[in-house]
Amino acid sequence: MKVLGISASLRNARYGAGSESFITELKACADKDAVKKYLHEQTQIRVFEFMDAGREKAESFDVIYRNLRKQRNARGLSNSETALGAGLWGCYNDGVDIEHVGLARYFPMRGEAQNLDKLKEIVLSADGYLISGPVYFGDRGSVAQEFISWLKNDPEIVAHLQNKAYAGLAVGAKRNGGQETTLMFQIFDMCQLGMHVVGNDAETTSQYGGTIVAGDIGTAGDDNYGLDTSIGTGRRIAKVVNLHKISQKVKLRDRPRISIWAIQDDENRSGRAHIEKWCEDVSKRIDVDFQYMDISAETVHRCIACDLCPTHVGPLEEYRCIINDKEDFFKANHEKIVDTDGILLAAYSPKDWQNLNSVYQRFIERTRYFRRDDYVFSNYVAAPIVISEIGSQQYISMRMAMSLLRHNTILTKPLIGRMNDGEILNWDALVNQGEKFVQSVASMTPARLEDAVVDNVERRYNPVGYAISLARVNEEVEVGLVDKVKSDAGVAANESVKARVVSK
Ligand SMILES: Cc1cc2nc3c(=O)[nH]c(=O)nc-3n(C[C@H](O)[C@H](O)[C@H](O)COP(=O)(O)O)c2cc1C
Repeated sequence: MKVLGISASLRNARYGAGSESFITELKACADKDAVKKYLHEQTQIRVFEFMDAGREKAESFDVIYRNLRKQRNARGLSNSETALGAGLWGCYNDGVDIEHVGLARYFPMRGEAQNLDKLKEIVLSADGYLISGPVYFGDRGSVAQEFISWLKNDPEIVAHLQNKAYAGLAVGAKRNGGQETTLMFQIFDMCQLGMHVVGNDAETTSQYGGTIVAGDIGTAGDDNYGLDTSIGTGRRIAKVVNLHKISQKVKLRDRPRISIWAIQDDENRSGRAHIEKWCEDVSKRIDVDFQYMDISAETVHRCIACDLCPTHVGPLEEYRCIINDKEDFFKANHEKIVDTDGILLAAYSPKDWQNLNSVYQRFIERTRYFRRDDYVFSNYVAAPIVISEIGSQQYISMRMAMSLLRHNTILTKPLIGRMNDGEILNWDALVNQGEKFVQSVASMTPARLEDAVVDNVERRYNPVGYAISLARVNEEVEVGLVDKVKSDAGVAANESVKARVVSK
């Protein structure tokens, strides 16, 4: 299994033999400190090359750029390549092989794309894709854009990319320069392409991928936390590739259980009617147990943003949010919520907002206690499902997708039923997509259950930015409470594997 690291900047320093030496050098870094030191040195080399190519003589940038392209380029790293180096190292360190390709040689500064047969061969040989590029106007640059369009236009590539792992890294000159928007837009494209999408990992609090702040050539190596987000993104993609590998050997003994958390509907339950019919049609094609949770008109109290969340360490089945009203949906249904294999977050989104009940925002903010409970939904396959009337323009599926990713889930393409005059125009496609979603849950669940037996360090919630929580967690670790809960969880995970997973 192999992850392909793709750099998408015209400032790329590595291609061909330079890409190969980049990979060899990354593999030789023994630990995190070594890789950071290596990346720092390489970004500096790029500064010197820049000087040699003409900056020292005050040449104009286009002259420098042409001179740089003439160099043999087996050394140095651009900013987005530096992020990629961190990500690829994180991936390799978790046991997955890596390769590098620089897009600048395929999508050059001027003229047509070239050597695309070679690029296709490289793309088709990979099992996961880590794309790193600069932020241009809060979005990706044209090199990344043309690469993605090219992927989408080739049916053989699209077929290959189905259920493959994807994650992204973005480098911008400013702290809020649009790294997150760039990552989000790209996430939607990769979901549309049918990929299994992840962000960065628990150590840097499960966001949308790696984000680096660096403007001038040679500066990415200084952004220590940014490098950590990139390493964590590499680890996440390695996790999915490793789960895919396990899933080739095991399967579920029983049916996958998929929860539909319906958080927005009208008083007549129009959304429910469509989604239940959809469940029926999908169930005719593939074995699955759907559990529809009609939450839109339930009492869901707001999150009060308490300083210690969850209230204490404990077993998964125990409700540990500070809100204790027995009418509250989470308090009353905690065990049901956690008893699932896959998640569909559902909404009805009509043009007319009258009679619409939405608890979406309350619901999602209250899921904080699952996230902070070491990511209860780590590696669960998840997607939004929305019955969206033409003209509703709510974009709720995007908000849902982004919030689901924060639970360290594996995100797949949002399921969107396009409704006109009460009829779903793309019904067959929606049912087909449903079948694909169930297949993903069915194949990833046994792998996730097996992995859960050993994986309890990597997904520890790291309370970045919360000193009080950190102190409490440290106390719980010191008195052995965390170890006790983890060892009980390990026993429970083992039992689940025995009960539900068989070899193929
Ligand atoms: C056309 C253009 C637009 C840019 N737009 C942004 C932006 O919106 N936000 C930002 O933070 N940086 C922006 N930048 C800065 C680059 O993202 C930054 O220099 C980055 O380090 C380049 O990475 P690279 O060296 O791998 O190409 C822009 C740069 C260019 C050339």
